[in-house]
Amino acid sequence: MGHKIFQIDTSIKDTQDSYTRQTGQYFIRKFQEKFGQLEVSYLDLAKNPPSYITAEWYNAAMVPPGERSAEQNQILLQPNMQALRDCDLWLFDLAGYMYDAPATFKSWLEHTFQMGLTIDNDETPLLKNKRVVVISSWNDSEDEVMPALGFEASIRKAMKHIGVSDVSFFNIFNSDEITATKDDAERAINKYISDLQL
Ligand SMILES: Cc1cc2nc3c(=O)[nH]c(=O)nc-3n(C[C@H](O)[C@H](O)[C@H](O)COP(=O)(O)O)c2cc1C
Repeated sequence: MGHKIFQIDTSIKDTQDSYTRQTGQYFIRKFQEKFGQLEVSYLDLAKNPPSYITAEWYNAAMVPPGERSAEQNQILLQPNMQALRDCDLWLFDLAGYMYDAPATFKSWLEHTFQMGLTIDNDETPLLKNKRVVVISSWNDSEDEVMPALGFEASIRKAMKHIGVSDVSFFNIFNSDEITATKDDAERAINKYISDLQL
């Protein structure tokens, strides 16, 4: 059986100008070279930004799936979060905006908080054996951005909350003093994929 990857793009730029889109595609190519047949469930948040969550959304998300009204089911279809369950590897290509992930991604992340999908009624995480790969790109140096103190920490916590602790980051820092190039990220991705046992 082939593998399934859930890939999210966030950059407002086209692929030819976007480090995260290009490096995300590189990851998919390398994964396919090693593991063969692959199905990619793809979401472009720059083209299809999710709506912000609302009180109606929360009321729907907190009701067990079998007890939701037709209207509540409809609310939870935008965006469709089923790929979280279907795919065992999630690839987040995150442009760095204002020292954080793009707002579209933060909004999408809030949608992951759903009873029966990611958490139980007592907030026990429901997901198991998932892996997350985050590719980010910045114009500043690592020292200036410090993703480990910013979005790395919050993404790790958000993932842990739904049962995912295997999270790997590949950050590109294209500052004047270039602290990590796209080539560095590709080398690190190569190593990650060559070590990956599925
Ligand atoms: C709205 C906006 C905010 C940005 N904020 C930051 C920032 O806080 N720190 C930084 O280093 N670069 C910042 N940048 C530059 C991007 O991180 C950089 O262009 C990166 O390569 C974006 O990813 P992409 O190449 O996939 O589009 C910002 C760019 C935009 C458009």
